[in-house]
Amino acid sequence: MRRVAILISGSGSNMLALLDSMEEPGHPAMPCLVASNDPEAVGLAKAAARGVPTAALSHRPFGKDRPAFEAALQDIILGHGADMICLAGFMRVLTAGFVGQWQGRMLNIHPSLLPKYRGLHTHARALEAGDTEHGCTVHEVTPELDDGPILGQARVPVEPGDTPESLAARVLTMEHRLYPAVLRRYAAGDRRPVWLP
Ligand code: GAR
Repeated sequence: MRRVAILISGSGSNMLALLDSMEEPGHPAMPCLVASNDPEAVGLAKAAARGVPTAALSHRPFGKDRPAFEAALQDIILGHGADMICLAGFMRVLTAGFVGQWQGRMLNIHPSLLPKYRGLHTHARALEAGDTEHGCTVHEVTPELDDGPILGQARVPVEPGDTPESLAARVLTMEHRLYPAVLRRYAAGDRRPVWLP
């Protein structure tokens, strides 16, 4: 049984989708921790209400010292016996040192059809480009931002009159299907990508 630490920074809707999926019979993974770099992240309370151990570690006292923040985070993660990490709306860039310790054992969900639109404001950028489809990607985390082997993608149409918000909401519903599907496969040792819908 894989032990998964889920890292969040915000509302944690993807985290909840992952928690739900790990309750399915025969699932090869279980959640051992939900941690956030933002102590105010509303997702922390949602995870606690589900009986999952939580931890808040603000990055702010560490200033620009990312390695020191990550060392403290690593202690928390290992202290909960995690052997895998799912980044789920975790909005801190991780150093190559941290990523290297988890390479092949850390997944991320990104709200675009990578390799398009790495970084922020992906929905606005897809609209500005006039794209007719958009979506989300789950990938293995490597030191390069929003890079790494693609483990699954889900596509949605861009509709006339879409705003970044309406498009984000349509993508998010697919994120909630894609991430659990990828985790289930990946935790069982199967790295073949998942394509949705
Ligand atoms: C999701 O859309 C996720 O793809 C995105 O943040 C949102 C978190 O929502 N992640 C990134 O932009 C990472 N660069 P959630 O907290 O409700 O899961």
